[in-house]
Amino acid sequence: MSNYHIKHLEEYFQVYRKSVRNPEGFWEEIAEEHFVWRKKWNTVLDWDFSKPEIKWYDGAKLNITENCIDRHLHIRSDKTAILFEPNNPNEEARHITYKQLKEKVCKMANVLSEKGIKKGDRVVIYLPMIPELAISLLACARIGAVHSVVFAGFSSTALSTRINDCGAKMVLTSDGSYRGSKTIDLKGIVDDALEDCPDVKSVLVAKRINSNIVMKKGRDEWLAPLMEKAYGDYPPEVMDAEDPLFILYTSGSTGRPKGMMHTTAGYMVYSAYTFKNVFQYREEDVYWCTADIGWITGHSYIVYGPLANGATTVMFEGVPSYPDFGRFWDVVQKHKVSQFYTAPTAIRALAKENLDFVTKYDLSSLKVLGTVGEPINEEAWHWYNDHVGEKKCPIVDTWWQTETGGILISPIPFATPTKPTYATLPMPGIQPALMDENGEEIQGNQVDGRLCVKFPWPSIARTIWGDHKRYKDTYFSAYEGKYFTGDGALRDEVGYYRITGRVDDVIIVSGHNLGTAPIEDAINEHPAVAESAIVGFPHDIKGNALYGYVILKETGESRNRDNLKKEINQMITEHIGPIAKLNKIQFVPGLPKTRSGKIMRRILRKIASKDTSNLGDTSTLLNPEVVDTIMKESL
Ligand code: PRX
Repeated sequence: MSNYHIKHLEEYFQVYRKSVRNPEGFWEEIAEEHFVWRKKWNTVLDWDFSKPEIKWYDGAKLNITENCIDRHLHIRSDKTAILFEPNNPNEEARHITYKQLKEKVCKMANVLSEKGIKKGDRVVIYLPMIPELAISLLACARIGAVHSVVFAGFSSTALSTRINDCGAKMVLTSDGSYRGSKTIDLKGIVDDALEDCPDVKSVLVAKRINSNIVMKKGRDEWLAPLMEKAYGDYPPEVMDAEDPLFILYTSGSTGRPKGMMHTTAGYMVYSAYTFKNVFQYREEDVYWCTADIGWITGHSYIVYGPLANGATTVMFEGVPSYPDFGRFWDVVQKHKVSQFYTAPTAIRALAKENLDFVTKYDLSSLKVLGTVGEPINEEAWHWYNDHVGEKKCPIVDTWWQTETGGILISPIPFATPTKPTYATLPMPGIQPALMDENGEEIQGNQVDGRLCVKFPWPSIARTIWGDHKRYKDTYFSAYEGKYFTGDGALRDEVGYYRITGRVDDVIIVSGHNLGTAPIEDAINEHPAVAESAIVGFPHDIKGNALYGYVILKETGESRNRDNLKKEINQMITEHIGPIAKLNKIQFVPGLPKTRSGKIMRRILRKIASKDTSNLGDTSTLLNPEVVDTIMKESL
């Protein structure tokens, strides 16, 4: 079909115009020609951003696993669906064919079902990047259960908060995980978390590191023997288009994480369509996204998008630095990877190392390179382009969010001329708008503002689980009738977009979305801490690092400062996970506040970034004198 695989710029513009002129017609044609449905929809789109309520393909019936697995079997039965590359390069890679994937997913679907999991039930998945992780998502989808994957780097407190928020009855985990030269006791973390989760009745444990773990009687069971016994077929549950497929938590500006809920049909159509176009995926390609399935990137572009296209998708268990900094390129050479998709933070870390780590490998299989998660700086872009792509592979700088379900702004390789640091043009069907401070849309080019989207696309999250009001307040209240992304962006003279970063209290550290509030909440639990404020500051590799300003209680004043810093980071590790640890901690006598008591983060950000030439007007602060002290003692 013509508009499924866009091949040149003129075609992109044609398709884009068509998608905006008649969005329903556009998405209907794609849905009809490229997916299998048990029943077609009554309406393509119903929407009202003021409620907000969004329905795509309402009335349609389907199962996403039929689209990701069963329908490929007559032509791709023995094609590798999942190519598992273990943490240890000496352990053999595993090829799971579409036929084998079907059997494994069905077996796990039977296991879940025998444990009482039904359509609509929530299952939390806390697994490392091993095949069972991908299989468990698909097994949930097979029976209509709603999966909620929690990244296996989150702490027990973060895990229990998410389990309770979505009301999960079951947790899938493993005895542990490998991460470079380390092992991590995942099951121990689950045990701690479940102390606070009375509703979880069943824990299924995959064996990965053969550690001696304690299995709680009546609750915990090994997965493998159950899988072995289970029947290898399971008829797909017939789902409504708008039935929930998964919940995935993301940080917000306030304490509680937001459980973004994605539904079935629209998510499937959009993740598959964008996968095919943004990576120009062809049948014989081997595609590799280095993200973890614990993030949206892994959901949409390791599991659902690739499999819906019958692709071979690599799942990598390890880290870029193990056994050395050449690991990514070793894997590219070994599996003849065609499309490689990673985060700017990984590129920056690898660019710091000796170039031999790249040049000693044959990277000639590569055709397209991608980045995601944070703005890519010019230096990293050029390093990626020159040394990995050898100037032959277009770089797709893909901008999107957990909330958007799929890529919204990105070049289309071989069609859109790329420009370093620019995500370039909207995908078909995406209508971006830049807004000014008065809430007006900014017209024309060479402008910057706050990035919104004016019209729904199929994979937009439908709600925040259990809190529709927060969904409305966060995304649809700042600008009437528009979805507000929380990002700032500029549009250049030809209409290319460049994302400039968050305009709210979310900080992107190493491509991970962290809210300031949950980190502050964690610190404030320390008995010696009275109050704290977290801001981001530029960091060579992480993009942003975290700077904490901490006010001590009187009782803390006499304590050793280095010990306190360690304890504060320990609190953060326990409450959120090591990814949220602070790079710098400054003890301060007070925090600059407005007269209404709001912390002036703008000032703190400037001090943390050592950009104090223009702090703006501080005279209206409640406590202007504190700014000088903070500046003098800044780190
Ligand atoms: O600020 C943007 C940044 O990551 C945020 C979304 O984070 P998350 O929901 O965790 O999803 C990350 C993976 C899709 C955005 O609001 N971001 C994502 N991609 C880019 C980006 N910033 C600049 N350029 C990008 N390509």
